[in-house]
Amino acid sequence: MKITGHTRTYALIGDPIAHAKTPELYNRKFAERGIDVVVVPVHVSPESIGDFATAARSWENLVGIGVTIPHKEGMIEQVDRLTDAARLCGATNVIRRAGDGALTGTQMDGPGFVWSLRDNGVSAEGAKVLVQGAGGTARAIAFELAASGAASVTIANRTAERAESLAESIRSAYPDCMAEADRMPAGQFDLIVNATSVGMKESDPLPLDADLLTAGTVVADVIMSPPETALLAEARTRGCVTHSGLRMLEAQFEATVAFLGLDKEEIV
Ligand SMILES: NC(=O)c1ccc[n+]([C@@H]2O[C@H](COP(=O)([O-])OP(=O)(O)OC[C@H]3O[C@@H](n4cnc5c(N)ncnc54)[C@H](OP(=O)(O)O)[C@@H]3O)[C@@H](O)[C@H]2O)c1
Repeated sequence: MKITGHTRTYALIGDPIAHAKTPELYNRKFAERGIDVVVVPVHVSPESIGDFATAARSWENLVGIGVTIPHKEGMIEQVDRLTDAARLCGATNVIRRAGDGALTGTQMDGPGFVWSLRDNGVSAEGAKVLVQGAGGTARAIAFELAASGAASVTIANRTAERAESLAESIRSAYPDCMAEADRMPAGQFDLIVNATSVGMKESDPLPLDADLLTAGTVVADVIMSPPETALLAEARTRGCVTHSGLRMLEAQFEATVAFLGLDKEEIV
């Protein structure tokens, strides 16, 4: 699509940002849909997100902001309104800018992940789930899995207190879901999700114990690059069903377009 003076912007903020896959994918999808919006990667440091939010309010042709590492929790403090999903997770990854400049943050990671699972023929209902990680993405996914009827959600994380706190929040919001923190989980799970950033670098170790990868288990990774992480490659060789982070990103696009109010803006 040609960028003209009419083209509006969607800023993707992160620190770093060069690795982000969203600009390429979303720009292709916006062009396919005939939506005259361009995604621009913006490198913003944590100290500057307040300044960025102030600038965003006066950025008249900005339709919204995508938020990636490490700003999903920090941007909660910077927006004017939050949806229930963002408030529950304590993190936002999509922010809408209204005509008057007001910023509303929501959370698409969780729904995107669960929709992508469904597209892959996997239901969370009644599942025994292990979520590795307790950061913004892990929180969003764990809440959405509990909301989707997972029987149990075990949270494993390097920083144990974050895992405890997440498990407690899930128990309080979804009492029917057995949520617990366990730094060294063992046994059989129906679904295992790596929701940490471990696996982005070639030198990274596996994010979790390979003995957990038993045949038939669905193993998902939120990491998008590489598309098949070392975890997914190991899971595949052990007979698991694998689910790449790219699927989660794809599933978030339509939901984001609707939240930003762009779904009725096709060019004729
Ligand atoms: N596929 C998609 O659509 C999609 C969407 C969103 C995010 N993502 C990906 O999700 C990943 C996590 O993002 P996030 O926003 O949740 O980040 P975050 O809030 O910074 O959380 C990072 C998580 O990774 C853990 N971690 C980081 N380095 C570690 C290490 N060396 N050893 C063990 N654990 C480590 C952290 O543990 P501590 O709590 O101990 O620090 C925390 O649980 C990123 O790779 C991101 O690209 C994918």
